[in-house]
Amino acid sequence: MSDAIQQQSLDAETIRKYTAEYVLTPWTAQKGLKPFVAANAKGCWVYNTEGRKVLDMSSQFVFANLGHCDDRVTAAITRQAGMLPGVNSQWATEPKARLGRLLADVTPGDLKKSFFSTGGTEANEGAIKIARWATGKQKVLSRWRAYHGSTMGSMSVSAEYRNWCAEPGVPGAVHILPPYCYRCPFGATYPACGVQCAKHVEDVIRMEGGARHVAAVIGEPIMGSGGLIVPPDEYWPMVRAICDKYAVALIADEVMTGFGRTGKWFAMEHWGVVPDIMTMAKGINSGAVPLGATIVRPWVAEKFETLPYLHGHTHSGHALALAAAVATIEGLRQDQLIDRAAKTGAYLLQRLQALQEKHPCIGDVRGRGLFCGLELVKNRTTREPIHDAFLEPPWPANSKMKFLGKCMEDGVYIMGGATSVIMICPPLNITTAELDFGLEVIDRNLAICDADYA
Ligand SMILES: Cc1ncc(COP(=O)(O)O)c(C=O)c1O
Repeated sequence: MSDAIQQQSLDAETIRKYTAEYVLTPWTAQKGLKPFVAANAKGCWVYNTEGRKVLDMSSQFVFANLGHCDDRVTAAITRQAGMLPGVNSQWATEPKARLGRLLADVTPGDLKKSFFSTGGTEANEGAIKIARWATGKQKVLSRWRAYHGSTMGSMSVSAEYRNWCAEPGVPGAVHILPPYCYRCPFGATYPACGVQCAKHVEDVIRMEGGARHVAAVIGEPIMGSGGLIVPPDEYWPMVRAICDKYAVALIADEVMTGFGRTGKWFAMEHWGVVPDIMTMAKGINSGAVPLGATIVRPWVAEKFETLPYLHGHTHSGHALALAAAVATIEGLRQDQLIDRAAKTGAYLLQRLQALQEKHPCIGDVRGRGLFCGLELVKNRTTREPIHDAFLEPPWPANSKMKFLGKCMEDGVYIMGGATSVIMICPPLNITTAELDFGLEVIDRNLAICDADYA
């Protein structure tokens, strides 16, 4: 598809009217919504029906790693659609075999065997069930501020305002404190803290019944929607060792951080840690067709050689989604986008640090690769956030929301999110000129948040 505007048979107003009348939009009150009516997209740009274009500085919901509408992915989907789009989930297909093999190649260590689902939520739901069966234990530890999905199990291990509507959740979900240096829950400062946040994982495992009762620890290597929280370097190696000590499975949720987002294929590689189970979605096929995957190490897979694997969906391993994923991984390799994300990410971080010098509202800048965040505060000493992450909606209009709205008006899309952190996560093939344009708009509009600064 070219980047010309595609003809549609409904005009924007009719699309909005039908959407308001017949569609429930996720994560928001419905009244008064006036969504962008997306018509088509190419590379880092999304176009609406009236020909306006916006630069996608968040890869939508952090999924368009290879950019939008990559011709190789479109061709793979089209080819597969003409041959065999869907088939029962127990049969083998070429894209399933090829993707299984490719994932074993690109994931760290001896992670080998994959289960395919249709998104990150289901990938985590599967991971939790697998960990419980494989260890024969029940409890799963996860961090406050985490987001792992929207079904009962995945929400029970999430810990932010969105899961309050689903409480009480699934029994056995236990929350622990996150490794959040900027707002250390232990009131400590790194490195003098001795990485208390990792030691705390052992304390809670012991208090929850240790090797006898705790099945798994689940965590995003770098927390995404919880506020782009990068842990101290020692954190994951220490948690890995603690899990080994108590025979607890470590589940890495790489739904946002996978497929080059942080400048490595998977974020756990930054710390040389191999989880027992890893979940993926989003960037796996650049968001072209819904797909999730749960990959496990051989010791986990072996449990299901004789024990039936009692999990699945009608569309586990949908051939269109898998063909798109094979083409995406080949595209990421062909265009060397993992290395490029590391380099462009270093440039981005440096530019964001320069913005911090200029804008008092930026309390903290952090990130890896093209997974970066600006934490907005009303005051650098008190660190009072501009947007309280634990405030249940409807939210009063605040300067972060005004900032996002003004950026959109000026042609730059940045995803909303429920924290005081602006997430900057463009497609991995963004050019420096495109990034500069996005940063110029961000720089200009941060004045809105500076005005909130006391
Ligand atoms: C880290 C993480 N895990 C899981 C999910 C859920 O994925 P999905 O929305 O594809 O179900 C998300 C979604 O944003 C996520 O960021």
